[in-house]
Amino acid sequence: MTIETIIRNRKTEKLLCDVDAHQAVPVDIAAKNKKILLQAVKTAGWAPFHFPRNVDDIAEPWRAHILWPEDVKKTALYLRDQLNVTTKEPNIVAACSALVLVTWLPEFHDLIVDADAPAIRESQLVRDEEHLAATSALVQNLLLILGSHNMATYWSSGGKLRQAEMFDYLGIPADERLLGAVFVEYPEMRDESKQRKEGKHRHSRCEDWINEISL
Ligand SMILES: Cc1cc2nc3c(=O)[nH]c(=O)nc-3n(C[C@H](O)[C@H](O)[C@H](O)COP(=O)(O)O)c2cc1C
Repeated sequence: MTIETIIRNRKTEKLLCDVDAHQAVPVDIAAKNKKILLQAVKTAGWAPFHFPRNVDDIAEPWRAHILWPEDVKKTALYLRDQLNVTTKEPNIVAACSALVLVTWLPEFHDLIVDADAPAIRESQLVRDEEHLAATSALVQNLLLILGSHNMATYWSSGGKLRQAEMFDYLGIPADERLLGAVFVEYPEMRDESKQRKEGKHRHSRCEDWINEISL
């Protein structure tokens, strides 16, 4: 497939199932797809980044926290039974095979607001915007690679998953911010018992945002 076909084939597939109807991923399928998913995350990390973030000697401004199938149901149960989440989130977690939580690391929690130094504030804003922009490139890379392996994906803002109590539960450092919860369904786990929804804006696309400058 050409990269253009892969981009145009990518689509959101939002899956839901009853937490108690969660289907465990068989061991051989889990092992096969773990390799593919891990490699996809590594390759997605070849996204460009402008500024080194240098936390823990890691230049990249992002992190990817992966929840493998054996912990997916535990997380769905935790959301439903410990945090008493009554939205669809436990159902979305229960329906996936694996979950990749992509975070970015803001550099300037306290922006310098100094009327005499607006350039400093602007440069801090730009650095954080660019850390976030770079992380977005990683997420899109990941969606495309997983799509090319016939895995269904859904990029969600994360809802409860982005909150402190879930970061705490999953062991994600508090100074990271969730950019995307990428829900993944392995191809072998595709079945009709789950509810499958498309992205809300799937059919609202146009090309009117293209402006060809003519001077
Ligand atoms: C940063 C980001 C966050 C998103 N968060 C959500 C979300 O929380 N809930 C949701 O239903 N869709 C979410 N989406 C997916 C969009 O709804 C989806 O991409 C859009 O409807 C277009 O559908 P498509 O991806 O199939 O083209 C998110 C997409 C992005 C880029």
